[in-house]
Order: sequence, then structure tokens, then C-alpha cells
Amino acid sequence: MNDVIIKNIGSLLLPKKTDKALKGAEMDELTIVEDAIVVVKDGKVVYAGAKTDDYEAKSTIDAEGMVVSPALVDPHTHVVHGGSREHEAALKRQGVDYLEILRQGGGILKTVEQTRAASEQELFDKASKNITRMIQHGVLSVESKSGYGLDKENELKQLKVSKVLEESFPIEMKHTFLGPHAIPKGRESEEFLDEMIALLDDVKDYADFADIFTETAVFSVEQSRRYMEAANEKGFKVKIHADEIDPLGGLELAIEQNAISADHLVAASDEGKSQLKDSDIVAVLLPGTTFYLGKNEFADARGMIDGGGAVSIATDYNPGSCVTDNLQMIMAIAGLKLKMTPNEIWNAVTVNAAKAIGSDRGTLDAGDDANLVIWDAPNHEYIPYHYGVNHAHTVMANGNVVYT
Ligand code: NIG
Ligand code: FE
Repeated sequence: MNDVIIKNIGSLLLPKKTDKALKGAEMDELTIVEDAIVVVKDGKVVYAGAKTDDYEAKSTIDAEGMVVSPALVDPHTHVVHGGSREHEAALKRQGVDYLEILRQGGGILKTVEQTRAASEQELFDKASKNITRMIQHGVLSVESKSGYGLDKENELKQLKVSKVLEESFPIEMKHTFLGPHAIPKGRESEEFLDEMIALLDDVKDYADFADIFTETAVFSVEQSRRYMEAANEKGFKVKIHADEIDPLGGLELAIEQNAISADHLVAASDEGKSQLKDSDIVAVLLPGTTFYLGKNEFADARGMIDGGGAVSIATDYNPGSCVTDNLQMIMAIAGLKLKMTPNEIWNAVTVNAAKAIGSDRGTLDAGDDANLVIWDAPNHEYIPYHYGVNHAHTVMANGNVVYT
């Protein structure tokens, strides 16, 4: 006997199950089954498709004509950190630039101070609130970066808290070492980078990926290449914060180094964007960050998708450049500012987001783990349209209702 049938689904969203992320025109393809059901047994999907009377189950959930999709995947967050930086928000509004605040020892370095001062328990308690809210908003896979420790003790502390979060909540997490996220005050960049490269061995058991912030006044392309080569040699998959503010060629480097994703890409070059088509890399765009930094130029999602690339979107949730953990809000901004279509947006937060973090989630086919969301909306276009509020009605993790 099956455990549960979700019946009376108005629109069932079925992103395509593939080995690689959806690229180019494929990103606008999304199977939508009207008048559908989903059958679940032992935490797995038995059937997801058009209504049929072929299945029986111990219980039913009436979706009342609402939308059902795979649970969302947030492939870029800095969810584990200490403190907050609301005082800098005022400075930014007065025109002080993000990198200038960092040069003055604020920004990321302020959060480093606050993270170093926090205990594991304090970091866990703070991040728990975000993870709880993410689940309530339909997200059941979260990538989590370190990068606010900048030394062995504190980077490991962040990564350990990230693991404990994964064990404590009904979510999948991927963990990323981002030691080269900023240069501590008084340190020389080459010598600090050497220390972070050496740290790769210590974090190996705690991190799935190695990431670096390639940016003016942070790490150069040459330094980033050195780090990524070392990480690749040590068996990490690599990621990069690339071309967020200045066009340094981070995207080209990411492709050269076989990165699983290149993130930000607001200032990526035409040459880099044209290389997306023939690579397996996922461009993870973070339009909430551009919005929150008060900039007008957003990443060229249209150029990347129309040029044949694979695009995902994420919150980038962090205390400085994007202070929201609500991925639905990012879906809205992706529509407004990245000019992505509703189908592209849904693929970007499900199957393509999963590929960006090496997860096999993001689909709802028979045999998949039953991680899904019932959305209180008349159709799938409605969710990125009616922005700023939570549309998740019921969230199911591995067959169990975890929020309703
Ligand atoms: O992805 N750009 C670098 N890192 C983060 C911001 C971190 C912070 O400001 O605390 C980002 O935007
Ligand atoms: Fe980031």
C-alpha cells in the first residue's frame, strides 16, 4: 500500500530529468500536467502525472487545484555567520562603495570578527532561523559556504556548524570551503593564499567544494588560478565568485578550471559568456545581490541563455550584499531584472540549481525522493509575479510533511 496520494493538483511542474543542467532553449521547456496526482511510498515518488484511479494509499492530501513542484534548491548561500551589518546599509545609501567598505576593514571583515567571536552553538542557533524560514519557503537543498573564519579554527567551526544543520533539519546541504573570501587586515595576499591552500587538506572531510572571491582588491585571476589548480589536484570540485563588480575574466578562468559553477557574473565578458555553450558549467546568477547593492546593471541572463548556456539563480544570502533567505523573492527579481521567463525561472531553482551543487534533486519523477512543495497559487507564473510573500502551502521532505 502506498503512503499518500496528493490529489487534485491544478498544475504539476515536472522539470526534465537530465545528467547535465538544461541549457539555452531547453531552459524554457517545462512539462506542466494539469489535473494531476503524486503518489508517495517510503519517502519516494511512485507516480507523478495525470490523474488516474490506479493507485491506492493510506492517506490523501487534497491540493485543491494548487501548483505542485519539486522542492526548491538554493545553490549559493553564506547562511552560517555571526552578527549582522545593518550599520553599513546606511553608509552604502550615502554612496560609500561595497569594496571601499571592505578596504576600510568593514564588510566581509566585519562579519569575520563577529563569526570568530561566536560559539558553534551561537552560529547554529542563528543559522537555524534562516534554515527554518527556507524550509517554510519551499527550499529543501541549500549550499552553505564558510569564508568568515579566514583561519583554520574558524573556517572549520563554520563548516562543522553547517554539517550539524544538515543533520538537524530535513534538508540536503552541500558545504563549500571559501577560505580565500577576503584578506585579513595586516596580511599579505600571496602568503595568506598559501595558508588557505594548505587548509584545503584540513577541510577535506567537511567540504564538497572549494570557492574563491576573485575581485579587485581581493584575489586576482592569477591567484585564483593557483588556488583552483591546487583544489582540483586535491580532489575538490571548484566554484568561484567571479566578475561580480569588475570584469576580471573570472568566468573564463572557471571554465578553464572545470568549475561546477561560476557565480555572480554581472560583469562577465562577452568572450566568457560565449564559452558557456560548450562547457558543463552552471552560471549561478544572484540578482538579489545586484538589487541589494543598489546597482542598475544586472547579469546578462538573456545573453547567457540565448547564447546556449545553463543558468541557475540563488539568494546569495549573506549579511552584507544580499540579506534575504527568501528564494521566491529572487525568482521575482529574476523575472523583472534578468528578463527570464517563468519556465526558465522554475528550471533555474530546481534542476539547474541542483546541478550547480552536484545534487540529484530538482525533479519529481518516479523513483525520486519525495521532496516537493504545494504552492497556494493558481498557476506557476503566479509565484514569481506576486512578489515578496510566501506562497508555499505545504512542504514535503522525503515523503513527510515538514511545513503546512
Ligand atoms: O557573494 N562577494 C563576496 N561574497 C559575498 C558577500 C559577502 C559579504 O558581504 O559578507 C557575495 O556577495
Ligand atoms: Fe556569495
